Amino acid sequence: MLDSSEEFLAYAHHLEAEHQRLDRLVRQMQDTCADILKLAGGQREARRTALMGGFSDLYDELNRHFAEEEGGACLEEAVSRRPALAPLVKALEGEHGQLLDQLQRIILQLKQDVSGEIFARVADQFQQFVVSLHAHEAAESEILERGFNLSFKEA
Ligand SMILES: [Fe+2]
Ligand SMILES: [Fe+2]
Repeated sequence: MLDSSEEFLAYAHHLEAEHQRLDRLVRQMQDTCADILKLAGGQREARRTALMGGFSDLYDELNRHFAEEEGGACLEEAVSRRPALAPLVKALEGEHGQLLDQLQRIILQLKQDVSGEIFARVADQFQQFVVSLHAHEAAESEILERGFNLSFKEA
């Protein structure tokens, strides 16, 4: 349990570092999608299992990150310091399940749809997911900055 200001500050920085790490994983998956789309049909098929594995790994990382945010009490501490942030934090925590569902649907499609067109469709859907995830994480970073009077950009 975090109980000192220093611990909360350290945890806020840890969450921000996690956002940057997750961002790198997301970019790797975007590159993987782009590489697959450059391949001919038969060669794309050979990458299907690896692509599904990459999305599954990302799902696990996000699931763990979201649980850490919900259990870590860091966002709640930001709210206790700035109560005006409460509705925003509530809305963001509600987005965790939606983001995981969005990614899960992509994985399921790769499992169930054996057509060659699925790769372009999945790449589009992943791009939409990335836009949602970036908006979510950026809003969260802003809450941490406002709640703890930090500026991650200057750090
Ligand atoms: Fe989050
Ligand atoms: Fe986050």
